[in-house]
Amino acid sequence: MRFAPGIPALLPGLLLLGCGGLRAPSSRTPAIDSAGVAQARAAASDLGSDLMGMLSSEMARGGPAAAVAVCADSAQERTARHQQAGVQVRRIGTRVRNPANTPDSLEALVLAAFAAGLTTGRLPMDTAFVQPLASGGYELRYLRPIQVQEKCLACHGPADRLAPGVLDLIAARYPADRAMGYAVGDLRGAITVRLAMPLAPAR
Ligand code: HEC
Repeated sequence: MRFAPGIPALLPGLLLLGCGGLRAPSSRTPAIDSAGVAQARAAASDLGSDLMGMLSSEMARGGPAAAVAVCADSAQERTARHQQAGVQVRRIGTRVRNPANTPDSLEALVLAAFAAGLTTGRLPMDTAFVQPLASGGYELRYLRPIQVQEKCLACHGPADRLAPGVLDLIAARYPADRAMGYAVGDLRGAITVRLAMPLAPAR
């Protein structure tokens, strides 16, 4: 398994974030288990390929202006379809188009670590943590970075690279849009998964 070098060093801060006060990890803190990571990876891949499939077919059918309208109408609803009991999966952005895709505080820290990794040529494939919850339970938090590709520029590139008609549609649907001005290779965001973890038996 390849986890982000350096990211585990953030863990004490994450414990703080998780419960609103420092709580020492107890002997019952569950370990990151490979079955949980495999489940999170599968959920991330399913959402990623579903949204990418929708984007590709709409781009092929009607070009970027038609595709942006379809994405705006259905990206959130498609994402919601991927939620299962105990598994939440969604996309977040380094700068968001839809405010619903704003990272939480842990996700913002991991995006910053991914961005730092990218500048040193060490962007991990994905990363995972155990986060304590205020309710007393734990979650597996899993994040997979998303980088900008050439085909993303029609809707996320600099204003002069946007496809015709896209700017107006985005301005109408997303008046607070911040998701333009990206270049190929930039960190665009991540797929993020939260998995409920069973408590380990007390020893
Ligand atoms: C046809 C236009 C279009 C193209 C091309 C496009 N996107 Fe988007 N993108 C959107 C729209 C519209 C949203 C907002 C969706 C929503 O409401 O959740 C979005 C949102 C996102 C988000 C969620 C964060 C945010 O800003 O709200 C990510 C991550 C993302 N896009 C990545 C990509 C990547 C990577 C590519 C290229 C593979 C790409 N997009 C290509 C239109 C596009």
